[in-house]
Amino acid sequence: MPDIKDINLAEQGLERINWVEKNMPVLRIIRDRFEKEKPLQDIRIASCLHITTETAILMRTLKAGGSQIKLCASNPLSTQDDVAAALVKYYGLDVYSINGEDNETYYKHIDSVLEFNPHITQDDGCDLVSTIHSKYPEKCNNVIGGSEETTTGVIRLRSMLADNSLKYPIIAVNDAKTKHFFDNRYGTGQSTIDGIIRATDILLAGSTVVIAGYGWCGRGVAMRAKGMGANVIITEVDHLKATEAAMDGFRVMKMIDAALYGDLFITITGDINVIDIPHIEKMKDGAIICNSGHFDVEINLTALNKIAKSRQRVRKFVDEYKLDDKRIYVLAEGRLINLAAANGHPAAVMDMSFANQALTAEYFTKTYRKGERLPVDVMPVPKHIDEYIAKLKLNSMNIQIDQLTEEQKKYLASWSFGT
Ligand code: ADE
Repeated sequence: MPDIKDINLAEQGLERINWVEKNMPVLRIIRDRFEKEKPLQDIRIASCLHITTETAILMRTLKAGGSQIKLCASNPLSTQDDVAAALVKYYGLDVYSINGEDNETYYKHIDSVLEFNPHITQDDGCDLVSTIHSKYPEKCNNVIGGSEETTTGVIRLRSMLADNSLKYPIIAVNDAKTKHFFDNRYGTGQSTIDGIIRATDILLAGSTVVIAGYGWCGRGVAMRAKGMGANVIITEVDHLKATEAAMDGFRVMKMIDAALYGDLFITITGDINVIDIPHIEKMKDGAIICNSGHFDVEINLTALNKIAKSRQRVRKFVDEYKLDDKRIYVLAEGRLINLAAANGHPAAVMDMSFANQALTAEYFTKTYRKGERLPVDVMPVPKHIDEYIAKLKLNSMNIQIDQLTEEQKKYLASWSFGT
């Protein structure tokens, strides 16, 4: 039995799902083919993703391919309850997730999707994969492969691989070019700013925004904040990324120094305690702190709760912490702001991310049906899939590009032409 908030929300969910579908033409093409060819017939997929309108379109595509799916959330705050209801009522899916669920329920829901012994796992952050490995290791034997959506998840999987804990092959969807070039940069860039504005209604123009982390996501957020007139400061631990940030025209400094200047702080590093008490002690009265990284560990809220004189919810998604000399505002309890306070990345980028998910599931199945097994490893999405998705996306945008002439191909393939 599915476990969702309210089935009566289904109609609203369906309306929103139908709206985003227009911006997911690549998945549409894949779904049309899946409907005819049924490449996933009888494949059981356990899926742990943010439950959004875009995820609903992926689920529809996988179902069109003939698979059976159980879906749970990859974050307790990211489920869109109306979408969960629509997936149950109109797509006949087993969904286990309620927005705002506590940690115990979150993991109970992960257990529920693992009940039917999946052939494929789809994960966003590695909680599903770590649960199957630690709690149900015997179920791993049945899994032909798993896919991972996000940077944080891929890092955790590489740690599992390094200490020989990983038991089945994983494809790192995050590392596909058609995923992180677009989803991490333009998706996170836009949706993070969207979440902050929905939560606070602040003006970015003229304000100082401190962004911790200049990976693909951090650059996307920095680019959009700058575009809206903010003075952007970047903090980094990586020399190369810090150099890039400096040459992209941003001020780069240590967090302890940036703490003095920021009106708004955004963490997006994937690491813990990036904003800690010594930083908060230096911040201005009224500073706003939020996180757009996968886990709610980037701001040391445990320590902040200890030193604060009081904490009060002053509006939806905004907690005011009173300290001796100032007030600090924390958004969405330090959980990822773009999915907690806004609707996550727009459909046009999720189109490519989820095309990678759908075609990866097909790739695992085809390999399995040929009687082959992929090695236990954390692997990239096959290049032909990545390139095919880029081509479909460009076509859908009605953009034509040049093709190499025979002469150019020959030139590029030879080493004898020189000065
Ligand atoms: N991750 C970020 N944005 C998302 C979205 N719209 N749907 C699913 N996962 C996401």
